[in-house]
Amino acid sequence: MSRPIRKAVFPVAGLGTRFLPATKAVPKEMLTVVDRPVIQHVVDEAREAGIEHFIFVTGRNKGVIEDHFDKQFELEATLERRGKLDALRLLKEDLPSAGQASFTRQQEPLGLGHAVWCARELVGNEPFALLLPDMLHQSEDRSCLAEMIDVYNAAGGNVVATYEVPDDQTHQYGIVGAGEKIGKGFKMTSMVEKPKQGTAESNYAISGRYILQPEIFTLLAKQEAGAGGEIQLTDAMLSLAKEQAFSGFAFEGRVFDTGSKIGFLTANVAYALERDDLAGDFRKELEALLRG
Ligand code: UTP
Repeated sequence: MSRPIRKAVFPVAGLGTRFLPATKAVPKEMLTVVDRPVIQHVVDEAREAGIEHFIFVTGRNKGVIEDHFDKQFELEATLERRGKLDALRLLKEDLPSAGQASFTRQQEPLGLGHAVWCARELVGNEPFALLLPDMLHQSEDRSCLAEMIDVYNAAGGNVVATYEVPDDQTHQYGIVGAGEKIGKGFKMTSMVEKPKQGTAESNYAISGRYILQPEIFTLLAKQEAGAGGEIQLTDAMLSLAKEQAFSGFAFEGRVFDTGSKIGFLTANVAYALERDDLAGDFRKELEALLRG
């Protein structure tokens, strides 16, 4: 029986240089897709998958993320006084319960691997989910993390979510090799960060969702800075894969990299078109724009 996944880590300490000047004072995780900050969409996904504890690795200029997940007394009182009960209900639904969210700091953005390592004391000795908040996973049915937990419950070990990318784009992603099928997942046979064009073993690109065993922290602690002078998560996962099983999960919904401008803009359109209260009018506006 695999140990349950109760905690999720959200590394939000990056500088967001691809999105300047928007991210000079506003964290990229607080940019909105329709009317919810990107980080809220990702926390929703984790909550839907049954996560009980939300761990944010923040950095300088990221205090507003902490505020977003805190109670705003004046705002709530004003909404109540003005009878704006729907807005008030929305705020309350989004709020983690007392003690359900923890925040730790990565004092310097030394890479994703280092950010994850900063969460080691809060995670402790149990498997956990890791969600990169700039990657949005839009699904028709159950969330990506919920489906990954099914794979984890069947296979144990570690799980990496992937999605299929066109053959001529594999060199831009982390690519995993796919072996035999296990339930909704597959045995992961290799993991290569940005393989040279034409050399990728598959077109399953890593999508920014992981279930990891706590031994990853020991390996991250030993890690030297890799590509770009940053401590890379992939290097530690490759070391862990020598000792433990890794499964892949092929997510079938849409994946958006909201840290890139095109990904962010497309995500806004895709999420707005899924909203009953907006889709009709928005579609008309889009069609008019495209007609020119
Ligand atoms: P990215 O590489 O996409 O984020 O990291 P970035 O460094 O902020 O973006 P650019 O490339 O400069 O535009 C993926 C996730 O990991 C976090 C980021 O906040 C992002 O959510 N991260 C990255 C950290 O928490 N710390 C780091 O040192 C690096």
